[in-house]
Amino acid sequence: MRLGVNIDHVATLRQARGGHEPEPIAAALAAQGAGAHTITVHMRQDRRHIQERDIRILKELLLIPLNVECAATPEALEMVASMRPQWVTLVPETREELTTQGGLDIAFLQSHLRQIIRDYHASDIRVSIFIDANTDQVKTAAKLEADAVEFNTGSYAGLSLGTNPEPLLAALKENCRLASRLELEVLAGHGLNLRNVGPIAAIPEIMELNIGHSIISRSVFVGIEQAVREMLKAIREPDV
Ligand code: PXP
Repeated sequence: MRLGVNIDHVATLRQARGGHEPEPIAAALAAQGAGAHTITVHMRQDRRHIQERDIRILKELLLIPLNVECAATPEALEMVASMRPQWVTLVPETREELTTQGGLDIAFLQSHLRQIIRDYHASDIRVSIFIDANTDQVKTAAKLEADAVEFNTGSYAGLSLGTNPEPLLAALKENCRLASRLELEVLAGHGLNLRNVGPIAAIPEIMELNIGHSIISRSVFVGIEQAVREMLKAIREPDV
């Protein structure tokens, strides 16, 4: 299983003062050095953290694939396609949200998405879609010829203490199997941390986890290299 490290919140801290530190590029290179398999950034329409300059420099310097999360809009397509990251992940986005809320409703948006996915493919960029674990969404992703789906683990991660996670995990596992049968690469992410990642990391179809907030939070205390290494250990040796 691969680990994609999302460095948005290094940029959040930089933007808090509008200056140059901490430098998200340095964080990405440190994560790469510690064994991360992908670097993920979310280019939001309001540019609250990641800037176009970050994506341009990351694309030039990284030795591992760059995954840019963005809304499925023509403006994002124009900007992101010109930077040629290896992957784009289409996510729902509203300006008010603190973080991504739920998966993209692709069954509803299919005619619009079909062209956007084709345009990314024409620029040699692979497309993943962030969706909830729902069979209609998975089947639509396959029909739209997406390369991958990233299952939203936000509801699982947000369960209150003492709530049985099994029903959510069962739905996730079933949809992972379906996606894999439909030849979609399977990823997952949102809200994962050292305490809750085990059962997700144990799902055999999942090829990659995208994790940001908990790694960057932990890195305040132990540094980004150690925070990445700890997460890699947790996903390689899931203690379910
Ligand atoms: N995957 C997607 C599609 C996201 O939008 C985010 C948050 O930017 C993540 C994964 C990572 O979530 P977290 O920061 O909670 O680990």
